[in-house]
Amino acid sequence: MTTVPQPRPEDGNSLKPGCIPAVEVKDLSLVFQTADAPVHALSHVDLTIEKGEFVSFIGPSGCGKTTLLRVIADLQQATGGTIEVNGTSPQAARLDRAYGYVFQSPALFPWRTVERNITLPLEIMGLTKTEQKARAKRVLELVNLSGFARKFPWQLSGGMQQRVSIARALSFDPNLLLMDEPFGALDEIIRDHLNEQLLDLWRRTEKTLVFVTHSIPEAVFLSTKIVVMSPRPGRIIDIIESSLPRDRTLDIRETPEFAEIAHRVREGLKAGHSYDDH
Ligand SMILES: Nc1ncnc2c1ncn2[C@@H]1O[C@H](COP(=O)(O)OP(=O)(O)OP(=O)(O)O)[C@@H](O)[C@H]1O
Ligand SMILES: [Mg+2]
Repeated sequence: MTTVPQPRPEDGNSLKPGCIPAVEVKDLSLVFQTADAPVHALSHVDLTIEKGEFVSFIGPSGCGKTTLLRVIADLQQATGGTIEVNGTSPQAARLDRAYGYVFQSPALFPWRTVERNITLPLEIMGLTKTEQKARAKRVLELVNLSGFARKFPWQLSGGMQQRVSIARALSFDPNLLLMDEPFGALDEIIRDHLNEQLLDLWRRTEKTLVFVTHSIPEAVFLSTKIVVMSPRPGRIIDIIESSLPRDRTLDIRETPEFAEIAHRVREGLKAGHSYDDH
Protein backbone atom coordinates (compact mmCIF):
# COMPACT_ATOMS: atom_id res chain seq x y z
CA MET A 1 0.00 0.00 0.00
CA THR A 2 1.29 3.41 -0.91
CA THR A 3 1.76 5.81 1.95
CA VAL A 4 -0.43 8.85 1.66
CA PRO A 5 1.62 12.03 2.09
CA GLN A 6 0.30 14.04 4.99
CA PRO A 7 -0.26 17.76 4.59
CA ARG A 8 2.88 19.54 5.68
CA PRO A 9 1.71 22.14 8.18
CA GLU A 10 4.94 24.10 7.91
CA ASP A 11 4.46 24.19 4.16
CA GLY A 12 0.90 25.13 3.33
CA ASN A 13 -1.40 24.98 6.30
CA SER A 14 0.10 27.34 8.83
CA LEU A 15 -0.93 30.92 9.37
CA LYS A 16 1.92 33.31 8.64
CA PRO A 17 2.67 35.85 11.37
CA GLY A 18 0.39 38.87 11.07
CA CYS A 19 -2.02 37.11 8.70
CA ILE A 20 -5.72 36.94 9.47
CA PRO A 21 -7.63 33.73 8.74
CA ALA A 22 -10.64 34.05 6.42
CA VAL A 23 -11.53 30.39 6.97
CA GLU A 24 -10.30 28.02 9.70
CA VAL A 25 -11.28 24.39 9.52
CA LYS A 26 -10.22 21.99 12.26
CA ASP A 27 -10.67 18.23 12.21
CA LEU A 28 -13.85 18.61 10.19
CA SER A 29 -15.90 15.59 9.20
CA LEU A 30 -19.22 15.23 7.46
CA VAL A 31 -21.35 12.11 7.20
CA PHE A 32 -24.52 12.15 5.11
CA GLN A 33 -27.22 9.89 6.50
CA THR A 34 -28.86 8.23 3.52
CA ALA A 35 -31.57 5.56 3.23
CA ASP A 36 -29.13 2.69 2.57
CA ALA A 37 -25.83 3.55 4.25
CA PRO A 38 -24.09 6.60 5.70
CA VAL A 39 -21.89 8.46 3.21
CA HIS A 40 -18.59 9.71 4.65
CA ALA A 41 -18.07 12.80 2.51
CA LEU A 42 -15.33 14.55 4.51
CA SER A 43 -12.94 13.14 7.05
CA HIS A 44 -10.59 15.00 9.43
CA VAL A 45 -10.08 18.06 7.27
CA ASP A 46 -7.70 20.72 8.62
CA LEU A 47 -7.34 23.89 6.58
CA THR A 48 -6.45 27.52 7.14
CA ILE A 49 -7.21 30.07 4.43
CA GLU A 50 -5.66 33.49 4.97
CA LYS A 51 -7.34 36.72 3.97
CA GLY A 52 -6.42 37.71 0.43
CA GLU A 53 -5.38 34.22 -0.66
CA PHE A 54 -6.54 32.44 -3.81
CA VAL A 55 -7.12 28.84 -2.76
CA SER A 56 -8.14 26.00 -5.08
CA PHE A 57 -9.60 22.64 -4.11
CA ILE A 58 -8.70 19.92 -6.57
CA GLY A 59 -9.58 16.24 -6.44
CA PRO A 60 -11.52 13.51 -8.22
CA SER A 61 -15.29 13.61 -8.68
CA GLY A 62 -17.17 12.85 -5.46
CA CYS A 63 -14.23 13.62 -3.13
CA GLY A 64 -16.14 16.32 -1.25
CA LYS A 65 -15.00 19.60 -2.86
CA THR A 66 -18.53 20.99 -3.21
CA THR A 67 -19.42 19.68 0.24
CA LEU A 68 -16.48 21.52 1.81
CA LEU A 69 -17.42 24.71 -0.03
CA ARG A 70 -21.02 24.32 1.11
CA VAL A 71 -19.91 23.85 4.73
CA ILE A 72 -17.94 27.12 4.50
CA ALA A 73 -21.07 28.76 3.05
CA ASP A 74 -23.32 27.32 5.81
CA LEU A 75 -25.36 25.47 3.17
CA GLN A 76 -24.35 22.19 4.83
CA GLN A 77 -23.54 21.39 8.45
CA ALA A 78 -20.45 19.43 9.47
CA THR A 79 -21.00 16.41 11.73
CA GLY A 80 -17.64 16.79 13.50
CA GLY A 81 -14.88 19.31 14.10
CA THR A 82 -15.04 23.08 13.97
CA ILE A 83 -15.11 25.80 11.33
CA GLU A 84 -14.83 29.57 11.48
CA VAL A 85 -15.49 31.97 8.61
CA ASN A 86 -14.22 35.52 9.08
CA GLY A 87 -13.59 34.70 12.73
CA THR A 88 -17.19 33.69 13.38
CA SER A 89 -19.57 30.78 12.71
CA PRO A 90 -20.50 30.04 9.08
CA GLN A 91 -24.09 30.92 9.99
CA ALA A 92 -23.14 34.36 11.32
CA ALA A 93 -20.93 34.91 8.25
CA ARG A 94 -23.84 33.99 5.98
CA LEU A 95 -26.20 36.35 7.78
CA ASP A 96 -23.50 39.03 7.52
CA ARG A 97 -23.29 38.40 3.76
CA ALA A 98 -19.58 37.83 4.20
CA TYR A 99 -19.31 35.69 1.07
CA GLY A 100 -20.58 35.46 -2.50
CA TYR A 101 -21.18 32.03 -4.05
CA VAL A 102 -20.78 31.22 -7.73
CA PHE A 103 -22.29 27.95 -8.90
CA GLN A 104 -21.11 25.71 -11.70
CA SER A 105 -23.99 26.84 -13.94
CA PRO A 106 -24.71 30.58 -14.05
CA ALA A 107 -28.25 30.16 -12.56
CA LEU A 108 -29.54 33.47 -13.96
CA PHE A 109 -33.22 34.35 -14.30
CA PRO A 110 -34.02 34.51 -18.06
CA TRP A 111 -36.84 37.02 -17.60
CA ARG A 112 -34.61 39.52 -15.82
CA THR A 113 -32.05 41.69 -17.59
CA VAL A 114 -28.36 41.33 -16.71
CA GLU A 115 -28.64 44.37 -14.46
CA ARG A 116 -31.74 43.07 -12.68
CA ASN A 117 -30.11 39.66 -12.13
CA ILE A 118 -27.21 41.44 -10.45
CA THR A 119 -29.41 43.68 -8.33
CA LEU A 120 -31.58 40.80 -7.06
CA PRO A 121 -29.59 40.27 -3.83
CA LEU A 122 -29.51 44.05 -3.37
CA GLU A 123 -33.32 44.28 -3.73
CA ILE A 124 -33.64 41.63 -1.05
CA MET A 125 -31.26 43.65 1.13
CA GLY A 126 -33.52 46.69 0.64
CA LEU A 127 -31.02 49.03 -1.06
CA THR A 128 -32.41 52.04 -2.92
CA LYS A 129 -32.86 51.79 -6.70
CA THR A 130 -30.09 54.39 -7.23
CA GLU A 131 -27.64 52.44 -5.06
CA GLN A 132 -28.61 49.18 -6.81
CA LYS A 133 -27.90 50.67 -10.22
CA ALA A 134 -24.59 52.19 -9.10
CA ARG A 135 -23.43 48.85 -7.70
CA ALA A 136 -24.52 46.93 -10.81
CA LYS A 137 -22.54 49.38 -12.94
CA ARG A 138 -19.45 48.95 -10.75
CA VAL A 139 -19.46 45.13 -10.77
CA LEU A 140 -20.22 44.95 -14.50
CA GLU A 141 -17.08 47.03 -15.03
CA LEU A 142 -15.14 44.59 -12.81
CA VAL A 143 -16.12 41.65 -15.03
CA ASN A 144 -15.67 43.63 -18.26
CA LEU A 145 -19.34 43.64 -19.19
CA SER A 146 -20.12 47.35 -19.18
CA GLY A 147 -22.73 47.99 -21.82
CA PHE A 148 -24.53 44.68 -21.31
CA ALA A 149 -26.77 45.79 -18.44
CA ARG A 150 -29.96 45.80 -20.49
CA LYS A 151 -29.38 42.50 -22.27
CA PHE A 152 -31.10 39.30 -21.19
CA PRO A 153 -28.95 36.30 -20.12
CA TRP A 154 -30.00 34.27 -23.16
CA GLN A 155 -28.54 36.97 -25.41
CA LEU A 156 -25.07 36.31 -23.95
CA SER A 157 -22.51 33.53 -24.47
CA GLY A 158 -21.89 30.94 -21.73
CA GLY A 159 -18.70 32.70 -20.62
CA MET A 160 -20.47 36.06 -20.44
CA GLN A 161 -23.32 34.52 -18.41
CA GLN A 162 -20.78 33.10 -15.97
CA ARG A 163 -19.23 36.58 -15.65
CA VAL A 164 -22.71 37.95 -14.85
CA SER A 165 -23.05 35.39 -12.07
CA ILE A 166 -19.63 36.46 -10.73
CA ALA A 167 -20.81 40.09 -10.87
CA ARG A 168 -23.94 39.13 -8.94
CA ALA A 169 -21.82 37.42 -6.27
CA LEU A 170 -19.71 40.58 -6.01
CA SER A 171 -22.65 43.00 -5.92
CA PHE A 172 -22.86 43.18 -2.13
CA ASP A 173 -19.07 43.44 -1.88
CA PRO A 174 -18.30 40.27 0.14
CA ASN A 175 -14.73 39.72 1.36
CA LEU A 176 -14.90 36.09 0.41
CA LEU A 177 -15.82 34.62 -2.95
CA LEU A 178 -16.65 30.90 -3.12
CA MET A 179 -16.63 29.48 -6.64
CA ASP A 180 -17.63 25.92 -7.53
CA GLU A 181 -16.13 24.99 -10.91
CA PRO A 182 -17.40 28.21 -12.45
CA PHE A 183 -15.67 27.63 -15.80
CA GLY A 184 -16.01 23.82 -15.91
CA ALA A 185 -18.49 23.83 -18.80
CA LEU A 186 -16.54 26.26 -21.00
CA ASP A 187 -14.03 25.53 -23.74
CA GLU A 188 -10.33 25.93 -23.06
CA ILE A 189 -9.82 29.18 -24.97
CA ILE A 190 -12.62 30.95 -23.12
CA ARG A 191 -11.50 29.39 -19.85
CA ASP A 192 -7.95 30.74 -20.30
CA HIS A 193 -9.35 34.19 -20.92
CA LEU A 194 -11.68 34.08 -17.93
CA ASN A 195 -8.88 32.76 -15.72
CA GLU A 196 -6.78 35.80 -16.59
CA GLN A 197 -9.72 38.10 -15.93
CA LEU A 198 -10.48 36.43 -12.61
CA LEU A 199 -6.88 36.75 -11.49
CA ASP A 200 -6.92 40.41 -12.43
CA LEU A 201 -10.18 40.93 -10.52
CA TRP A 202 -8.76 39.16 -7.46
CA ARG A 203 -5.63 41.33 -7.49
CA ARG A 204 -7.62 44.55 -7.85
CA THR A 205 -10.25 43.76 -5.22
CA GLU A 206 -7.95 41.92 -2.75
CA LYS A 207 -10.73 39.46 -1.94
CA THR A 208 -10.21 35.96 -0.62
CA LEU A 209 -11.04 33.39 -3.28
CA VAL A 210 -11.90 29.74 -2.76
CA PHE A 211 -12.16 27.97 -6.08
CA VAL A 212 -13.11 24.37 -6.94
CA THR A 213 -11.68 22.83 -10.09
CA HIS A 214 -10.87 19.53 -11.80
CA SER A 215 -8.14 21.09 -13.90
CA ILE A 216 -4.50 20.94 -12.77
CA PRO A 217 -3.34 23.82 -15.04
CA GLU A 218 -6.26 25.97 -13.88
CA ALA A 219 -5.48 25.30 -10.21
CA VAL A 220 -1.77 26.01 -10.64
CA PHE A 221 -2.29 29.11 -12.76
CA LEU A 222 -4.79 30.73 -10.40
CA SER A 223 -3.81 29.78 -6.89
CA THR A 224 -1.57 30.97 -4.12
CA LYS A 225 -2.42 27.70 -2.35
CA ILE A 226 -3.62 24.39 -3.81
CA VAL A 227 -5.50 21.90 -1.66
CA VAL A 228 -5.29 18.39 -3.09
CA MET A 229 -8.09 16.09 -1.95
CA SER A 230 -8.46 12.31 -2.04
CA PRO A 231 -11.49 10.26 -3.10
CA ARG A 232 -14.21 9.56 -0.57
CA PRO A 233 -14.05 10.08 2.31
CA GLY A 234 -12.63 13.41 1.23
CA ARG A 235 -9.43 14.20 3.06
CA ILE A 236 -6.60 16.53 2.34
CA ILE A 237 -3.64 14.82 0.70
CA ASP A 238 -1.42 17.84 0.21
CA ILE A 239 -1.47 21.60 0.61
CA ILE A 240 0.82 23.34 -1.82
CA GLU A 241 1.94 26.90 -1.22
CA SER A 242 2.62 28.31 -4.68
CA SER A 243 6.01 29.82 -5.38
CA LEU A 244 4.68 31.70 -8.42
CA PRO A 245 4.42 35.50 -8.18
CA ARG A 246 0.92 36.91 -7.62
CA ASP A 247 1.31 38.95 -10.77
CA ARG A 248 1.23 36.32 -13.52
CA THR A 249 0.13 35.92 -17.11
CA LEU A 250 -0.69 32.76 -19.05
CA ASP A 251 2.94 32.57 -20.24
CA ILE A 252 3.89 31.41 -16.76
CA ARG A 253 2.52 28.00 -17.73
CA GLU A 254 5.66 27.46 -19.82
CA THR A 255 8.02 27.86 -16.86
CA PRO A 256 9.78 25.05 -14.91
CA GLU A 257 8.29 26.40 -11.64
CA PHE A 258 4.78 25.92 -13.05
CA ALA A 259 5.63 22.39 -14.23
CA GLU A 260 7.05 21.56 -10.82
CA ILE A 261 3.89 22.60 -8.97
CA ALA A 262 1.68 20.79 -11.52
CA HIS A 263 3.81 17.68 -10.98
CA ARG A 264 3.33 17.85 -7.22
CA VAL A 265 -0.46 18.20 -7.66
CA ARG A 266 -0.46 15.19 -9.97
CA GLU A 267 1.57 13.15 -7.48
CA GLY A 268 -0.89 14.05 -4.71
CA LEU A 269 -3.84 13.00 -6.85
CA LYS A 270 -2.11 9.70 -7.66
CA ALA A 271 -1.36 9.02 -4.00
CA GLY A 272 -5.01 9.70 -3.21
CA HIS A 273 -6.14 7.15 -5.75
CA SER A 274 -3.90 4.42 -4.43
CA TYR A 275 -5.36 5.16 -1.00
CA ASP A 276 -8.81 4.56 -2.48
CA ASP A 277 -7.79 1.16 -3.86
CA HIS A 278 -7.02 -0.35 -0.45
N1 LIG B 1 -27.07 15.59 0.15
C1 LIG B 1 -26.32 14.50 0.04
N2 LIG B 1 -26.76 13.32 0.52
C2 LIG B 1 -26.01 12.21 0.43
N3 LIG B 1 -24.78 12.17 -0.12
C3 LIG B 1 -24.30 13.30 -0.62
C4 LIG B 1 -25.04 14.53 -0.58
N4 LIG B 1 -24.30 15.51 -1.17
C5 LIG B 1 -23.15 14.92 -1.56
N5 LIG B 1 -23.15 13.60 -1.23
C6 LIG B 1 -22.06 12.65 -1.44
O1 LIG B 1 -20.88 13.17 -0.86
C7 LIG B 1 -19.75 12.92 -1.68
C8 LIG B 1 -19.06 14.23 -2.00
O2 LIG B 1 -19.87 14.98 -2.89
P1 LIG B 1 -19.43 16.36 -3.48
O3 LIG B 1 -20.57 16.88 -4.27
O4 LIG B 1 -18.90 17.22 -2.41
O5 LIG B 1 -18.22 15.92 -4.45
P2 LIG B 1 -17.32 16.79 -5.43
O6 LIG B 1 -15.90 16.59 -5.03
O7 LIG B 1 -17.83 18.18 -5.48
O8 LIG B 1 -17.56 16.05 -6.82
P3 LIG B 1 -17.65 16.68 -8.30
O9 LIG B 1 -16.23 16.95 -8.70
O10 LIG B 1 -18.25 15.56 -9.11
O11 LIG B 1 -18.51 17.90 -8.26
C9 LIG B 1 -20.27 12.18 -2.91
O12 LIG B 1 -20.05 10.82 -2.72
C10 LIG B 1 -21.75 12.47 -2.92
O13 LIG B 1 -22.47 11.40 -3.47
MG1 LIG C 1 -18.75 19.34 -6.97
